[in-house]
Amino acid sequence: PATYPFHGAHQAGVLTPGPSEKQKAAAFVALDATAAAREDLKAVFETLTDRARALTAGGPAPDLGVGQPPADSDVLGPSIPADGLTVTVSVGASLFDDRYGLASAKPAKLTPMRVFPNDALEDAWTGGDVMLQLCAHHPDTVHHALRDITKHTRGGLQPRWRMDGFDSPPRPSGTSRNLLGFKDGTANPTGDEAASLIWIDDPSEPAWAQGGSYQVVRVIRMLTEFWDRVSLDEQQQMFGRRRDSGAPLDGNAEFDTPDYAKDPHGDVIPLDSHIRLANPRTPDTANQRLLRRSYNYDRGLDANGNLDVGHVFTCYQQDVVRQFETVQLRLVDEPLVDYVQPFGGGYFLTLPGVRDSSDHYAKALL
Ligand code: HEM
Repeated sequence: PATYPFHGAHQAGVLTPGPSEKQKAAAFVALDATAAAREDLKAVFETLTDRARALTAGGPAPDLGVGQPPADSDVLGPSIPADGLTVTVSVGASLFDDRYGLASAKPAKLTPMRVFPNDALEDAWTGGDVMLQLCAHHPDTVHHALRDITKHTRGGLQPRWRMDGFDSPPRPSGTSRNLLGFKDGTANPTGDEAASLIWIDDPSEPAWAQGGSYQVVRVIRMLTEFWDRVSLDEQQQMFGRRRDSGAPLDGNAEFDTPDYAKDPHGDVIPLDSHIRLANPRTPDTANQRLLRRSYNYDRGLDANGNLDVGHVFTCYQQDVVRQFETVQLRLVDEPLVDYVQPFGGGYFLTLPGVRDSSDHYAKALL
């Protein structure tokens, strides 16, 4: 669809549009709050809400009159198309430090991102008080939205790091592919099951966070030059799936479910393959499932002329420790680590949805 509803109990850009129909272009922008006081921070979230509401609806920009700088950049022409834009706003643990008197409102589960054994985190690519996820059908729409939002919020939010992403169409069918050539997102939960795994509904969480979700962002470089020298068989053993169809190695079609009980020693799907470690499919690991919504990135070349490409891994869940961290700890030292390098990201809490025209982001918090 061209337009995703802005108002609702949950923000768009997580389950709407769902992973199978997710937009092709994205930007992940971490920002630091520079607002002087809590009321200024509240004002900036109100402005952000107004801009997100207008941009996701589309329509002509107002005429501010002769002599004024134009209201809009016109990057998308005089009538702004919605183009499937979603704006998804999340907050990091650092927003709850002493600056705004929010410490007592901080959810116990919102922490800085943990450093895992295979990480090489860079400060300049890690953390942020706010995470802005922009997704749309075309990259110029994402650019336009980011430019509009930063123009209107510059006094209170300062961009800290940014990674743009792109997604592929079905090639030739099914889920889109990552830059290692594999379909990525196949085993995601969908529908009611996904909803029951991602939306915060635990009464011990603060009231302002109910209906939100915990978002993990990991910026992960892919060493594609090395990957492209690995045999197809070894690549498939690392993931546990076929590269052409995305089928599990014990199946025929992409959406076949692997049956690990029939393969206890990992003769068909290795015990240390990515999918088997990530989701062993036992009853006691079912509540560790999470919703991935990742994008590819391509930043050109590094200083040595190597392709500087990878993956903005994003996932949503109710509980970072129960879901993301439990899965990530099982993935420590998996064979794939020789070909991927996490270097940034953060943990954030995706705010509940903006209910109606009188509501705004973080209204119940600020
Ligand atoms: C599955 C790629 C990192 C969690 C998969 C699949 C691919 C893939 C190709 C199989 C298809 C699918 O179901 O989506 C990658 C790449 C990564 C990466 C290239 C890093 C560069 C992670 C991380 C996590 C994760 C950091 C979470 C901590 C999962 C889960 C599955 C999965 C839960 C589904 C397993 C199943 O239910 O069968 N990943 N992944 N992945 N991955 Fe990753």
